[in-house]
Amino acid sequence: MNSIRFDQKTVVVTGAGGGLGRAYALAFARRGARVVVNDLGGSGSGEGQSASAADAVVEEIRAFGGEAVANYNSVEDGDKIIQTALDNYGRVDVLINNAGILRDSSFAKMTAQDWDLIQTVHMKGAFSVTKAAWPVMREQNFGRIIFTASAAGIYGNFGQANYSAAKLGLFGLTQTLAIEGAKNNIKANCIAPIAGSRLTETIMPADVVAALKPEAVAALVVSLCAEDCEESGALYETGAGWTAKLRWERSQGVILHGADAQDADQVAAQLAAAGDFTGAEHPASIQDTFTPVMSRIGASQAKPEPQKA
Ligand SMILES: NC(=O)c1ccc[n+]([C@@H]2O[C@H](COP(=O)([O-])OP(=O)(O)OC[C@H]3O[C@@H](n4cnc5c(N)ncnc54)[C@H](O)[C@@H]3O)[C@@H](O)[C@H]2O)c1
Repeated sequence: MNSIRFDQKTVVVTGAGGGLGRAYALAFARRGARVVVNDLGGSGSGEGQSASAADAVVEEIRAFGGEAVANYNSVEDGDKIIQTALDNYGRVDVLINNAGILRDSSFAKMTAQDWDLIQTVHMKGAFSVTKAAWPVMREQNFGRIIFTASAAGIYGNFGQANYSAAKLGLFGLTQTLAIEGAKNNIKANCIAPIAGSRLTETIMPADVVAALKPEAVAALVVSLCAEDCEESGALYETGAGWTAKLRWERSQGVILHGADAQDADQVAAQLAAAGDFTGAEHPASIQDTFTPVMSRIGASQAKPEPQKA
């Protein structure tokens, strides 16, 4: 088995001052990468800022002879984070979009500020850093990007309407960037991790937090960023050494004809049949939706046109 290496490669990890991000930064540095350790250094709910979180991880990396530099910007200022990579190392090969906070409350009590702050840090933050790295990766004809989803986004979770919306949104972004990045050897993948960290220590018992090592998640992240990894557009759940891939499953569906197709009573009568997963298929692209719909209206050759780069 070849050992995965990142010599001469630059890896940017957002939110790398603690938890999962710290584990990623250390793992990449141990495999030869030059690492930009970004962290705003605020609280778990997004208040305050400090240089100490990022600085401590840079020190840890330098202590074993690794190469790293700190950046203290918020992910909202993605261009500044990527500029730190370019100023120090001249390139960006891998980007791990990891920074995150929580503003949990039931939807009934959730304020617009709780909503906006979560979208800003998770969605806008990942957009902002990735947008700044994208032209660099296209120019290099190489890029590996990870986005961080959550089981709360995949399945929903009480008290996390803002967070779950942002987290599954990041998988939508992953899938489109996998398509748009393909011709420039840019691979984008998404993970839904489970690990002990300050975000989970408030909801899990201490022994469980201690057992859920961030290093186990880091192993998957590193493997997805390897130069010879062909995976792109995928979503994995991972934690405690367990890694599983998700895919869409679609029932064969029902077909209504003529006026029945526009009659809510007829559709209601067919809903149970539409939800019967006997003989289900696994659509993997937008064409897999357009093709059956277009063939229903007699336009079987019609396909959505890809936009020019
Ligand atoms: N730990 C889990 O089980 C779990 C589960 C699902 C998803 N996640 C996601 O994994 C990621 C890492 O979470 P964690 O559990 O390691 O939490 P953590 O709080 O230990 O780490 C998150 C880091 O992001 C930093 N950060 C927050 N806002 C930032 C900003 N605007 N700019 C730059 N840095 C910022 C924080 O300072 C912190 O160091 C998050 O996106 C989280 O939503 C974690």
